[in-house]
Amino acid sequence: MCGIVGAYLRAQPCLRSLVRGLRVLEYRGYDSVGVGVIQDGAIVVRRKAGRIEELERALADGALDDAAIGIGHSRWATHGPPTDQNAHPHRDWLGRIALVHNGIIENYQELRVELERRAIPLRSQTDTEVLAHWVGIELESSGGDLAEAVRRALSRVRGYYAIAVLSGGERPQLVASREGPPLCVAILPDAAWLASDPLALIEHTRDVVFLEDGDVAELAPGKLVVRRLDGSVVTRASHHLDYDAEAADRGGFAHYMLKEVHEQPDVVSRALFGRVDEERGDVRFEEELLSDATLRAVTRVQINACGTALHAGMVARYLIEGLAGVPVDVDYASEFRYRRPVVVPGTLALGISQSGETADTLAALRLARELGCRQLALCNAVGSTMVRASEATILLRAGPEIGVASTKAFEAMLVASVLFAVRLARARGKLSSAEGRALLGELSQLRIGLEHMLTREVVAGIRALAERFTQARGFLYLGRGINFPIALEGALKLKEISYKHAEGYPAGEMKHGPIAMIDPDLTTVVIASKDSVASKVRSNIEQIRARGGPVICVGDDPESLEVADERIVVPSVSPWLSPLLNVVPLQLFAYYVALARGCDIDKPRNLAKSVTVE
Ligand code: M6R
Repeated sequence: MCGIVGAYLRAQPCLRSLVRGLRVLEYRGYDSVGVGVIQDGAIVVRRKAGRIEELERALADGALDDAAIGIGHSRWATHGPPTDQNAHPHRDWLGRIALVHNGIIENYQELRVELERRAIPLRSQTDTEVLAHWVGIELESSGGDLAEAVRRALSRVRGYYAIAVLSGGERPQLVASREGPPLCVAILPDAAWLASDPLALIEHTRDVVFLEDGDVAELAPGKLVVRRLDGSVVTRASHHLDYDAEAADRGGFAHYMLKEVHEQPDVVSRALFGRVDEERGDVRFEEELLSDATLRAVTRVQINACGTALHAGMVARYLIEGLAGVPVDVDYASEFRYRRPVVVPGTLALGISQSGETADTLAALRLARELGCRQLALCNAVGSTMVRASEATILLRAGPEIGVASTKAFEAMLVASVLFAVRLARARGKLSSAEGRALLGELSQLRIGLEHMLTREVVAGIRALAERFTQARGFLYLGRGINFPIALEGALKLKEISYKHAEGYPAGEMKHGPIAMIDPDLTTVVIASKDSVASKVRSNIEQIRARGGPVICVGDDPESLEVADERIVVPSVSPWLSPLLNVVPLQLFAYYVALARGCDIDKPRNLAKSVTVE
């Protein structure tokens, strides 16, 4: 949600780079923004509620243009409303340091009381300002050594944070630390950079160092010293990012979301690359956790995720139970972490996340580990907390996903789920090599079906349909079996970007309540694949139409398509793979409804790309 950038340059101005970095992080969602720089040895801060354009206006006088050291922040309000006063950076009461912060200081009230006792004036309602003053207090007892002051201050703090701190004076210093939210740094001979997301660094370098929880790093051009809170020095390896800068811009599409929807054929190919063993009808993974011996010992799979990733997890349940015969539980990570889950020995915890930084998913994974589960992550972000905290990872390889509405990462999650289910089934002897070969062969050909769904003609048809139905009062999405989670996903996509009310339901539940809502103003989108429940889906459509409700049918079951009012025909594939195709028209339908309604598609209101706090 919040974003951090920082720069310490040798004899070059940093302000423009900081603002560009903040722009790269815009997709994460924010409601105020600010920078702090060192100008003639003193710290100067400019901050604004609202968009980056507001900050740019506040910087237009050029007064800070020569500064070579600075930090920047985009804030998503947690403590105190989004105002100029609450925006970051925050300074200590004497203005010697400036601090930006992602996350939450849990014991800030307790620290605040102590600051009030010392008569230190508080100017904002944030937990961050409290930490800035504590660093200021410790700066005095650390002889002006900012890194030591930060270590001392953080040892009083309970919470979840990534921070960057700047001090002025004769020896300017830039320090960063994390406990929870991500933070990475990059050191070049003439520059030191930091950011909460490596995407903000790729215009400068592809080689970054991810800080670990509890690290405090001091940065300067050509210099990085990382210490633990107790002062001991540690070495952190550098990671090479294979993102390319072009991948992070819109590539001619009107929105990132549309570009990412269109990338899905490539995403599927990338996710499969080097992983399919055609001869053995199996999947190749390097990780020991995915070896025959380890997978044979799995008694149960516990999936935890949030939002779209949870829907991928629900599809994974059908695949794992159906192909490998292993029982699966799927939980909202936010529920799993706060109930007292009973976990049987041999349970494999499977965390699914695009960002790898979702607070609830990480907490659920941590709890599963404490309960004795082995842990596997399906994750898109290399170097994310989730990847580093799990025993093994199946990387999604979807590339950076910028649109807040997750599309291509979902597709990659489905591919990874098929691969994992096949590996598990093959390891346990539940799938023959011929069956494995047939399914993986179809998966390798899936891009043809995806490309068909993304042809100009098909997309234009979906757009026209979306425009015709924009005025509907609301939408009901129905699916059965492995396509029930796709109904949930279709409804989520529509509501998050178009703000139209939409609900997803298992089609078989319709008669237990939702049927009461059916009328000409409620549009039902039914996913109908040619599978073992096709005839039941068809009769659901007939029941809705008999009550005057319009039905849009999406799928490859000819009889269901025939009885609906409107249809989006999807190429036929094995029912196990049908979700990977069926979701695409639903993404496009949501996109074009939102477009017709003039919504801010890549930055839907109130939503953040990565939900790193509860
Ligand atoms: O980064 P994650 O996959 O862990 O994120 C989980 C959800 O926050 C995310 O899928 C959210 O629901 C998206 N906005 C859906 O489009």
